[in-house]
Amino acid sequence: MTPTPSGDGIIEVSDVFKAFVTRGDRRNGRAFLALHDVNLSIARGRFVAFVGPSGCGKSTLLNMIAGLVRPTEGAVRYKGVPVSGVNTDVGYITQDDNLFPWRTLRENVEMALEFRGVPVDRRRDLALRYIGMVGLSGFDNHYPHELSGGMRKRTALVRTLIYEPDVILMDEPFGPLDAQTRVILQDELLKLWDGSGKTIVFVTHDLVEAIALSDEIALFSRAPGTIKQVYQVPLERPRDVFHIHAHPNFPEFYNRLWQDLKEEITAVELEASP
Ligand SMILES: Nc1ncnc2c1ncn2[C@@H]1O[C@H](COP(=O)(O)OP(=O)(O)OP(=O)(O)O)[C@@H](O)[C@H]1O
Ligand SMILES: [Mg+2]
Repeated sequence: MTPTPSGDGIIEVSDVFKAFVTRGDRRNGRAFLALHDVNLSIARGRFVAFVGPSGCGKSTLLNMIAGLVRPTEGAVRYKGVPVSGVNTDVGYITQDDNLFPWRTLRENVEMALEFRGVPVDRRRDLALRYIGMVGLSGFDNHYPHELSGGMRKRTALVRTLIYEPDVILMDEPFGPLDAQTRVILQDELLKLWDGSGKTIVFVTHDLVEAIALSDEIALFSRAPGTIKQVYQVPLERPRDVFHIHAHPNFPEFYNRLWQDLKEEITAVELEASP
C-alpha cells in the first residue's frame, strides 16, 4: 500500500516538507531538511505505529500533528482543517513523562479537568477511577519521585486519557522501561484502547512492540525522512502481547519489516563512514 492521503482520514498529511534553520545555520543561510515529501492518511480509530532510523523526523511529524511545529511546505489536516496552532484536541504523551513533581499522582491526573473547570468532587472521582484502571489505587497521594518508572508512565497515560481526546500521540512512551514492564503496559494500553474508538499514533524503535500493538506501521526512510511504506499488520485482534512471537504470521512479517528498516539504518552508517 502506498502512503497516499485519501482525504477522509482524521489526520491527513499532504506533501509535507520541513526544513529547520538552526542558529549556526542562520549565519551561513543554510537550512536543514528534516522531512521531505511526506504523505499519510490515518483513519479514525486506527492504531498506527511510526518506525524508522533515529533522526528521520518521527517526533517532528508528531509535533506537526500536535500543532507545535509548522510544515515548511504542504499541509497537516486534522478533521479536515489545516492545523495552524496548538491542536488542543489531541493528547500528547512525550518521551519524557513531564509529570509535575510538586503535584501528587492524583493531582497530576486531574490537571486537564481542572483547566476545563470540572468541579472538584467530579474530577476527584474521575481521577480515582482512571488511576484504578491502571492498577495504581492506593498510590494516589504519592509524588512522582515516589513512583517507579512504570508507575510514572501509567500516570502519564491516564492523565491524557482522562480528558478523552479523539487522538492520542505517543512518542516512545515505554522506551526506558524494562522488558517485562513494557509488555505489561502494552497489554494495559490495548485493553484501554479496545472499543474506545480513539486514534493512536505511537512512535517506537521496537519492531516487536509496533507489531504487537498496531493496525498499520509507517516505516520512515533515513534522514531527510519520508514515509517509505505503510504495512497492514497481519495479526487479528485481540492480540496476546505476551506471546506475540508465537503467532503464525509473526516471523515472516517481522523479517520483512526488519529487512526494510535495516536498509535505511545501514545506509545511515555507510554515509557516516569516511
Ligand atoms: N527544533 C529543531 N530545530 C532544529 N532541528 C531540529 C529541531 N527538531 C528536530 N530537528 C532535527 O530534525 C531531525 C529529525 O528530528 P526528530 O526528533 O524528528 O527525529 P526522530 O525520528 O524523532 O529521532 P529519534 O528516533 O532519535 O527520536 C533531526 O536531525 C533533528 O536534529
Ligand atoms: Mg524522536
